[in-house]
Amino acid sequence: LTLDVGKAGTPVSPTLYGLMIEEINHSIDGGLYAEMVQNRAFHNDWSGTTPWDLVRRGSSQGTSELDFTSGPSQSLSSSMKLSITSASPENEVGLTNPGYWGFGLKAETTYIGSFYAHVASDSPGPITIRLINNRTGAVQASSTVTPQPGGWAQYQYTLKTAKIAPSTDNHLELSVAHPGTVWLQLVSLFQPTYHDRANGLRPDLMGMMADMHPAFLRMPGGNFLEGNTLADAYDWKKTIGPIVDRAGHNGSWFYWSSDGVGLLDYLTWCEDLHIEPVLAVNAGYALDHTHVTPGPNLAPLVQSALDEIEYVTGDTSTHWGAVRAKDGHPTPFVLHYIEIGNEDYLDKSGSYPARYAQFAQALHQRYPQYKLIATDGNAEYSTRVVSPEVSDEHYYKSPSDMMDLVHHYDNAPRDGPKVFVGEWATRSGSPTPNFGDALGDAAWMTSLERNSDLIVMAAYAPLFTNVNPGAMLWPTDLIGYDAGTAYGSPSYYAQALFAGHLGDTTIAAKLSREDDRIFVSATKESSTGTVHLKLVNAHSTPETLAIAGLPGGHTAEISSLHASTWNDTNSITDPAHIRPVVSTVPVKVGEWSHTIPANTIEVLDIPSR
Ligand code: AHR
Repeated sequence: LTLDVGKAGTPVSPTLYGLMIEEINHSIDGGLYAEMVQNRAFHNDWSGTTPWDLVRRGSSQGTSELDFTSGPSQSLSSSMKLSITSASPENEVGLTNPGYWGFGLKAETTYIGSFYAHVASDSPGPITIRLINNRTGAVQASSTVTPQPGGWAQYQYTLKTAKIAPSTDNHLELSVAHPGTVWLQLVSLFQPTYHDRANGLRPDLMGMMADMHPAFLRMPGGNFLEGNTLADAYDWKKTIGPIVDRAGHNGSWFYWSSDGVGLLDYLTWCEDLHIEPVLAVNAGYALDHTHVTPGPNLAPLVQSALDEIEYVTGDTSTHWGAVRAKDGHPTPFVLHYIEIGNEDYLDKSGSYPARYAQFAQALHQRYPQYKLIATDGNAEYSTRVVSPEVSDEHYYKSPSDMMDLVHHYDNAPRDGPKVFVGEWATRSGSPTPNFGDALGDAAWMTSLERNSDLIVMAAYAPLFTNVNPGAMLWPTDLIGYDAGTAYGSPSYYAQALFAGHLGDTTIAAKLSREDDRIFVSATKESSTGTVHLKLVNAHSTPETLAIAGLPGGHTAEISSLHASTWNDTNSITDPAHIRPVVSTVPVKVGEWSHTIPANTIEVLDIPSR
């Protein structure tokens, strides 16, 4: 097989690789959000206030019940009432919380906590907060807070671990040692956060995203944007300001969303990763296939989108820019793309063109500088009827189907909208992709790069899953974690390699014959002349290529991702089984022969000087 490389092609989109996030698989609550307490606001559903439990030691007596008449804010207008009739320092009564499948504790670490409490004249006195090991019962850290009689007040506490062995097998307990009554709300405990931001994000997951070299974050969905019903759609105005003013809402993936990560938190997340938001606005279509009728009924949603854009981009002289400043961020954020809805090709009522037009008319008039993304296009459905600047197209495929799709965009028309592959993934592994999936993904990425004159952005989805049973709702997610550690799937490393070695111009890379398991792409960095050559061999045998047209006489660096079989993978207990290995190879002048091992993804950085 011969590979001819060399002729410069078109510019590579500088925003080609990015991230997509939505609240799915406990991606945020129980994932990226550094909050460790599950259901901190005592949300009540058919199962009660799961996973909270009452604990009574020895002969102590007490009850816990939701009190819907008292809470610290309008949004959190209920609370957990703890009524203790008999307790002593030896026999306490309290509440326990198992966290999100445990509390991930590390040695000599400070955890920052707070809660709202209300006590009257029959106060039970000090509240002791402890982190306790589930197996040994050992107290890993403790602190005491004494609520003062009066109205609702917030109390802070810190829990500092000693030289403990790291473990997720821990729970939180708040208990009292005297009879009395106390009302509690918003019981919170944060692990250290990325850039030490208050109400912040897990540093390990932020670091892993940074290592993917993303250019943007598509947020906040996905289905999460739409809601299972119109009433459950994402309403950004309910996600800003102090967290005590955020009620949370019914997420579309069958669990409650605290909305602790709200619009401003998404934006500062972008700021911390030096990337841009791709802002998806609720366009009045829900997953139950109902929609808001275009016209006056839709006008409030259009206004909400205009307000949201002002919150993101307006200076402090604007109403919503001033609200953002009051929320702690006076500087406006940079924005280029606004997405109208999500997967509106599923709206068989035909309402999307009119809904899109109503949004587009208002948004273009107020913000002509921003590009609009429509969501009615999809390769499998081909129903695109509106003419946006960009069309969002989604692909979820098996490894072989993904490999079959790699020429889909090669001959696609260039005179229509640009393409945003807003969700894509090769899916067979669970909870995270296996090596066969990574090969499908790498094959697909050669196509994204080759066609990046048309494909301006692309994002794998879903990005995250908590790997505990019951947490994952959608198998095959790029990054897995539990309460303590995280790992990258083979697909994660494939993507980090591709995005981390991306030039600014495509280079023609042509195989002498088509092979449905060999995939290539090449780009060049103009400032250095370095060629990034990506080679994918999905065969179970090595493949030798005769490569011509590359600058020779230098040493290339090869980053190689390899596995014995397509089923090989990484996991929470074996996180580094498959990882890139870096070596070097001399590149000869003229044609040279290069063997790609079986089941291997390679990225060669070939210097020209
Ligand atoms: O990524 C999972 C889901 O797939 C998204 O929420 C939705 O947009 C798509 O159907």
